[in-house]
Amino acid sequence: MRILKAQPEDLGIILALQYRAFRSEARLLGNERIPPLMQTLKDLEKEYREGIVLKAVDEVGVIIGSVRAREKGDTLHIAKLMVLPERQGRGIGTQLLVAVEKACPKPRYELFTSNVSLKNLKLYEGLGYVRFKEEEMTPELKFVYMEKKARVFA
Ligand SMILES: CC(C)(COP(=O)(O)OP(=O)(O)OC[C@H]1O[C@@H](n2cnc3c(N)ncnc32)[C@H](O)[C@@H]1OP(=O)(O)O)[C@@H](O)C(=O)NCCC(=O)NCCS
Repeated sequence: MRILKAQPEDLGIILALQYRAFRSEARLLGNERIPPLMQTLKDLEKEYREGIVLKAVDEVGVIIGSVRAREKGDTLHIAKLMVLPERQGRGIGTQLLVAVEKACPKPRYELFTSNVSLKNLKLYEGLGYVRFKEEEMTPELKFVYMEKKARVFA
């Protein structure tokens, strides 16, 4: 498996992967219209121009995962971490997250998930992310914002 910068011609495949990967999240949230499932190729092309998109590619060249990020001041905002459902649980998501931090080093990294996405919370906590803000969507559903501050070797 290799992690590379995505090329413009990869974006259609990444969007198809996104629609498959985020179906489980939609089920979990009880909402088929979550933003990752509503995004268009045009939206993704705009994100590509404004940030960084990485892809995980397997031995035969198939794109099996992706992540994207955007810089804002001292912070790298990381989003849309995804792995094909049949390839999950083998460390690919972890490697993608580490790779995007390395590709774009910043003093601070930020991402968010929901309070019911326990697997995601565990993954992010395992990589050093801590909760710093919650946004209530409904009484049962919250967005959980997490941050990780880079160690300063001074
Ligand atoms: C979130 C997501 C990207 C994680 O990808 P992944 O490749 O399954 O992640 P990892 O394999 O790195 O980690 C998942 C689990 O596998 C375990 N794992 C890591 N490396 C492993 C390995 N080599 N072998 C077996 N298990 C491993 C991890 O410890 C983790 O287990 P835990 O949850 O019990 O701690 C993926 O589940 C996904 O696409 N979900 C849908 C979209 C989504 O919700 N994205 C996040 C939006 S906030």
